[in-house]
Amino acid sequence: MPDSNFVQQDFQHRLRNIPLLGMGLSVDVYSPNLFELVSRLKKRGLQPGYLEVFKATTTALSTVRQAVPDISLAYHGEGLWITQPDVQASPFFQQDLDEMVTQLNTIQSLWLNHECAMKQMAGYSFGTYVPPLYTRLSAEVVAANIATVQQVMDRQGRRADGTAPLFLLEMPPLTYFSAGTIPIPHFFRLIAGLVPCGLVLDIGHLWTVYRYTDACRRIALERFVGAFLDEFPLERVIEIHVAGLAYHESVSKPKGGEGLPEWIDAHAAPIPSILFCMLEQVLAHPNLVSLRAVALEVDTKSIEMIVEEYAETVRRFSPIVQQTMAGGTAVEQPMELAPYPTSVQAPVCQSDRQQLRADYTRYAKIISGQAPVTGLEWQETTAEATGVARYHTCYVPYEILHWGGDLAEMFPQTCRALAERGVCLTEFVAFWFRSPRPLTHSYDFFLLKIERFLEFVTERALDVRICAQQECDILRQAYAQANEVVEPVPVMEMERTR
Ligand SMILES: [Fe+2]
Repeated sequence: MPDSNFVQQDFQHRLRNIPLLGMGLSVDVYSPNLFELVSRLKKRGLQPGYLEVFKATTTALSTVRQAVPDISLAYHGEGLWITQPDVQASPFFQQDLDEMVTQLNTIQSLWLNHECAMKQMAGYSFGTYVPPLYTRLSAEVVAANIATVQQVMDRQGRRADGTAPLFLLEMPPLTYFSAGTIPIPHFFRLIAGLVPCGLVLDIGHLWTVYRYTDACRRIALERFVGAFLDEFPLERVIEIHVAGLAYHESVSKPKGGEGLPEWIDAHAAPIPSILFCMLEQVLAHPNLVSLRAVALEVDTKSIEMIVEEYAETVRRFSPIVQQTMAGGTAVEQPMELAPYPTSVQAPVCQSDRQQLRADYTRYAKIISGQAPVTGLEWQETTAEATGVARYHTCYVPYEILHWGGDLAEMFPQTCRALAERGVCLTEFVAFWFRSPRPLTHSYDFFLLKIERFLEFVTERALDVRICAQQECDILRQAYAQANEVVEPVPVMEMERTR
């Protein structure tokens, strides 16, 4: 096991390379149009302290770098499922890692932010982030995978000032449920003790932790946040995110106004005022000593709403953020300037990885509704299992049928032919989760949907296969063309949501 003092020193050394960025925006290149957004902000006299850009094509990212030479850029990665015990054995891991480093270098990113979450596990695929199993073994695997990624960034990261981007791990949102055997803040404290990564604390995600663990039935929000922050490794938080929350399309809003709303993370939605109260509480905490940046996460939001929210947030919070950042640098301990090697992470043994793989197989089956909610990880949940039931009866079917590409719009003729033959589209959800499946390419939900739908049609209505194949070809061509577009313009309604 690495010495935790050594890990902390390594972190401190890396932290020195990250300037105080202040308030900025976490954006998508395409949605809304980034250049129009920056120009509208400029007209209001606002220039973001930095932009954190979500993974896109390398060409699009290069265009962004050239178009805003005066703004610091950071990178929000995607597709490195560092929660998974077998991710490094995936045939696409090295390729994904190489692409990521190329993109980090292209935009001269200060960090790689990646959710501590996955969209694929044990051969099962999802469209949006699934939180990790909050267990001790799971934390050890995450730390080991982060150490590998950081080593690659240290070797191949090429910033003009000679420093390497730092891995930042973001605490993911909960979508109606949580599963694990240790409290969430302890999970992140374990990781921080093993690897010198920074952290991203997303205020909306924290609200969902309150909402979808038993905390909201036990204590008031303010007390929950206070206790959470005392336990969480807040001294590692480099960036704070604030984004919207909303009811999901698949869930009907209750008529009465009783209880906490069943909101989930929703970047297109307005930021509710309760999150700004929580932000105040976080910024006032004495352990927040490494803060460098606060971003509104605004991908998929309307430009008008972004400009209004950003202007108001800067007005209200910029002085506090500056004060917090300055206070943090004042307490930094003096340190020698010798270069530090990446901490050497003790490898997780094969049997532990196999154990966690089995845990994730069970997890995937439970949350997709193929297995009953049983096991140690669900003990806290079983008292109120409605969250996981809502997830697999409403949220998951919506994701497979409509999200990131609506099947009826993608395959109009095939869907009509299936309906004529009495095949209901909802059967595709059960088909999707029927059995685990080896990976055939780097994670891409849109392409996966096309591939699996063709398999479904072949099995259920063989005579419709030719029609489906034709529609598949058109979709794949259009997708490839959209991804080759050099100018970041809105592309088809595809996988653009985090
Ligand atoms: Fe976030």
